[in-house]
Amino acid sequence: MCPAFSTGTPSPTSLDHIPVLLTEVIEALAPKDGGVYLDGTFGAGGYTTAILETAPCVAWCIDRDPEALQRGEALAARFPDRVNFVQGRFGDMAELLSARGITGVDGVALDLGVSSMQIEDRARGFSFLRDGPLDMRMEKSGRSAADVVNTLSEKELADIIFTYGEERHARRVARAIVEARSDRPFSRTLHLADVIRARVRRSQDGIDPATRTFQALRIYVNDELGELERGLIGAEKLLRPGGILAVVAFHSLEDRIVKTFLKARSGAAIRPSRHTPASLGAAPATATFTPLTRRPIDASEAEIARNPRARSARLRVAARTDAPMLTAVVGGAA
Ligand SMILES: C[S@@+](CC[C@H](N)C(=O)[O-])C[C@H]1O[C@@H](n2cnc3c(N)ncnc32)[C@H](O)[C@@H]1O
Repeated sequence: MCPAFSTGTPSPTSLDHIPVLLTEVIEALAPKDGGVYLDGTFGAGGYTTAILETAPCVAWCIDRDPEALQRGEALAARFPDRVNFVQGRFGDMAELLSARGITGVDGVALDLGVSSMQIEDRARGFSFLRDGPLDMRMEKSGRSAADVVNTLSEKELADIIFTYGEERHARRVARAIVEARSDRPFSRTLHLADVIRARVRRSQDGIDPATRTFQALRIYVNDELGELERGLIGAEKLLRPGGILAVVAFHSLEDRIVKTFLKARSGAAIRPSRHTPASLGAAPATATFTPLTRRPIDASEAEIARNPRARSARLRVAARTDAPMLTAVVGGAA
């Protein structure tokens, strides 16, 4: 926890999530008296707590994980009438908030990926280091990682592992999965991790061979990149003129989406690519965002020493202009 924002909450345990780039995100949002802020990835509430401590404003908190929002009770007691919780996806932020009478906000923060609590809880099945059900569903509903590895074709698995895990041995891993599941379907995390480790050697940097495949499955199971695309468009809908968008990404796939979106929406020409969905790469007649970070902000060495998870974090910030959204995008969003 950043010393600048004393939370008054119990000191962190090993399972607690330490907010990444907290000072930078709060400086970017610059919460003001009477402002309305959306934390689209509530997690352990680190950003929301700091927002509420910084100014007498109102926070709306979204998380797709029902367990995350249960942690909000203490915050609600500490800031009565100033904090509101919504279980759902940030890709639906505009609809979720407008259903509650909120059609404009002064800031949107997104801190992508999973929290430490989710990774550390073996029952959630995100970790290749602890045995647990091969689940990985943030929402605890829908298709699990076990469903995916047990039913998709070898080619589909290879594509997912290559695209979302950036695993150059994707085909080898997919073949190993398909062979192993014909003996015994996957239901446990360590079964999958062991099958991958038997086929792919540990790289020289010491990264566990299961890392990339687990990342790929998590992104696929939770449609994380689709959510990000819808979330950015949702923020464009919700933010008032001058409102701030702050997004913390943890890998290049996410950061590329944020970068492309902000570039296009600030009026820069985008080279068409099959990876760029039309709704993201489209440039409005007048810019809808002004980027406030030319380059993404990284964590300081001191923060990385305190919290190694911050190593890959990249923050991009932009301010909403008063230009209307593209009509085609408005209709096609979320
Ligand atoms: C990295 S943690 C956020 C930590 C938070 N900033 C804090 O300071 O405690 C990410 C959280 O976002 C949630 N999440 C991820 N994708 C989401 C989505 N599309 N919609 C809503 N919540 C999402 C996860 O369930 C997780 O609780």
